[in-house]
Amino acid sequence: MLYKLWTAFPALALMVVFANAAAIDSCSSFKLSNVSNTVVAGRTFYKAGDNVTVVNEYQSVSTNDLPAFCRIELTITTNSTANSSAHTEVWLPDDWNGRFVALGTGGFSGGAAVLDLAFTAAKQGYAGMSTDTGHQANAGDGSWAGPHNDNAIVDYAWRATHLSVLSAKEVIKQYYGKEQKKSYFLGCSGGGRQGFKEVQDFPDDFDGVVIGSPANSLDHILASVAHSALLTLPVNSSRFIDEDIWTNVIHPEVLKQCDALDGVADGILGDPRRCSFRPETLTCLPNQNTSTCLSLDQIDTLHKLYTDYYETNQTYIFGGYYPGGEVGMPTYLFSSQPMPLAIKIAVDAYRYIVTNDTTWDLDRFDFSAVRQAESVLSAQTNANSPNLTAFASAPHSGKIIHYVGWAENFISAGGSVHYYETVHSWMKSHGGADMDTFYRLFPVPGMEHCMGGFGPISFGGSSQAGSGYPALKNDPEHDILAAMVHWVENDVAPETIIGTAYKNNTVAEGVAFTRPICKYPATAIYQGGDVNSATSFKCV
Ligand SMILES: *[C@@H]1O[C@H](CO)[C@@H](O)[C@H](O)[C@H]1NC(C)=O
Ligand SMILES: *[C@@H]1O[C@H](CO)[C@@H](O)[C@H](O)[C@H]1NC(C)=O
Ligand SMILES: *[C@@H]1O[C@H](CO)[C@@H](O)[C@H](O)[C@H]1NC(C)=O
Ligand SMILES: *[C@@H]1O[C@H](CO)[C@@H](O)[C@H](O)[C@H]1NC(C)=O
Ligand SMILES: *[C@@H]1O[C@H](CO)[C@@H](O)[C@H](O)[C@H]1NC(C)=O
Ligand SMILES: *[C@@H]1O[C@H](CO)[C@@H](O)[C@H](O)[C@H]1NC(C)=O
Ligand SMILES: *[C@@H]1O[C@H](CO)[C@@H](O)[C@H](O)[C@H]1NC(C)=O
Ligand SMILES: *[C@@H]1O[C@H](CO)[C@@H](O)[C@H](O)[C@H]1NC(C)=O
Ligand SMILES: *[C@@H]1O[C@H](CO)[C@@H](O)[C@H](O)[C@H]1NC(C)=O
Ligand SMILES: *[C@@H]1O[C@H](CO)[C@@H](O)[C@H](O)[C@H]1NC(C)=O
Repeated sequence: MLYKLWTAFPALALMVVFANAAAIDSCSSFKLSNVSNTVVAGRTFYKAGDNVTVVNEYQSVSTNDLPAFCRIELTITTNSTANSSAHTEVWLPDDWNGRFVALGTGGFSGGAAVLDLAFTAAKQGYAGMSTDTGHQANAGDGSWAGPHNDNAIVDYAWRATHLSVLSAKEVIKQYYGKEQKKSYFLGCSGGGRQGFKEVQDFPDDFDGVVIGSPANSLDHILASVAHSALLTLPVNSSRFIDEDIWTNVIHPEVLKQCDALDGVADGILGDPRRCSFRPETLTCLPNQNTSTCLSLDQIDTLHKLYTDYYETNQTYIFGGYYPGGEVGMPTYLFSSQPMPLAIKIAVDAYRYIVTNDTTWDLDRFDFSAVRQAESVLSAQTNANSPNLTAFASAPHSGKIIHYVGWAENFISAGGSVHYYETVHSWMKSHGGADMDTFYRLFPVPGMEHCMGGFGPISFGGSSQAGSGYPALKNDPEHDILAAMVHWVENDVAPETIIGTAYKNNTVAEGVAFTRPICKYPATAIYQGGDVNSATSFKCV
């Protein structure tokens, strides 16, 4: 077909060749002017279908499924006195949709989010940017931060991201010869924290941010992880809950008690806030096999894990976990070896950022450690200001879509609800914008941390497309970034996003079901009909 077309119109074929050559040329000769802190460290043009293999300490991508794009690597000096710098990637598709998207990174990651650069940016036509935030490390490694490595901590907290946004916008302007029409952000976990930091401190950077499971109250999230881990440790103590018990005893009992509350027993809790889980029903009877029931200590552990934590003066510190995420619990918390990711992150944060004591360990955790974390992290790293006036108001009238898994087993979903409600009451009592006009929260039934779990976990969230969970379609109905674009550019605010679950969480096996992800505080309630179809549910 193409061959015939080109035989009939040879000029067309030539034009394609020339266009390609021009793009290769402008990529390989790209020079950035007028940005004194930024040096172009690499230029690579990839033709459509080329093998794109990029590896860094945080992530790697290897695919031949991308359209043509130019990859620009930048070295951005973040503090010339300290000679600190960030390594930032800007991926510029030939077939540009005119938009800029910055892609956040999780945990302590020091490396660009290359999966999202590939599958969210380049593949969908966005000019994408992601930065290593000033250090090279995997998501669980905080040793670069210290002790006392102040410049690295400031870069991680906000500076590298903000400077990278400014430089990326210049790259876009000079590469394409015009500015982006709108700017977006997409990130989850640590990336969610980066997004809220931008909203609060640099409200001009973005028109729309899509934020998942944010670690924005980092001081209290560290406390939540340490406190939760200590509830079950040491391994094999009477409090300890092993993987088999989580999966085969506790989770089935949660489903038995609460799964049908959304109108259908399908293995997914529509809204775990409706579930008052009673672990007592699992109490071991005399002579009962202990791998099928719970000791009184284990029951006590569960009660505490599923309860919000307040100080004695009623100050909220962190939200308890909601029932539903039991199967994934050992991955983030509560297993013996190797140290689960959440605990590793918390311990490294206390060691290298909060206490400057590299021998700090969990057994030293108490609420004076919380005070210390608050005082060290609040200025730079936290992003929990309720005053979003600057971002929400004209001229940009910025928009926020915040999502979180109801089955979170790392950063409790309660923290997301609490932040949303805190902003809500702050804006209300200060005569600020109505939440619905600029900030909407979408809790995802059955989803764990950023992805994973048994729910409709594919909807265009951060890292999903590159991890094998692409949105069913990249339209505003099924893709949360496309929904944000629709809101910003066409003023159509999302009411629901339709999430997709693939059979066995494997795209190649086909769609298992679709399900509406409702705007908080609504819940998807089954109305009858095909339980695998989103149309059989209504957000109420
Ligand atoms: C750099 O700045 C100068 C002076 O402001 C301006 O004339 C020039 O067009 C700029 N160049 C680019 C590539 O932006
Ligand atoms: C792509 O390149 C990488 C690294 O150069 C190589 O390991 C991989 O096998 C290549 N993949 C394909 C499909 O050619
Ligand atoms: C830059 O680094 C120097 C040397 O470490 C430090 O004294 C200074 O406070 C830093 N400046 C900023 C703005 O972080
Ligand atoms: C600054 O850091 C770079 C590496 O990031 C190094 O190559 C260079 O020598 C350093 N310069 C000074 C003055 O220390
Ligand atoms: C916990 O018990 C299991 C099973 O008895 C055993 O294999 C494991 O080594 C124990 N772990 C620790 C840390 O004691
Ligand atoms: C206890 O139950 C577990 C899981 O059902 C089983 O594997 C194990 O053999 C049982 N132990 C005894 C002593 O019956
Ligand atoms: C609650 O108590 C903590 C210390 O125990 C204190 O830091 C905090 O300021 C108190 N909050 C209020 C609202 O009194
Ligand atoms: C640790 O170092 C940071 C950065 O220099 C400082 O702000 C903090 O007060 C120090 N904490 C302790 C406990 O020494
Ligand atoms: C909220 O933020 C806006 C914009 O940054 C600022 O002008 C205002 O003073 C803040 N309001 C309060 C009560 O702090
Ligand atoms: C699900 O996928 C895993 C690994 O890809 C495979 O081992 C398992 O058999 C699959 N289960 C079903 C029910 O298809």
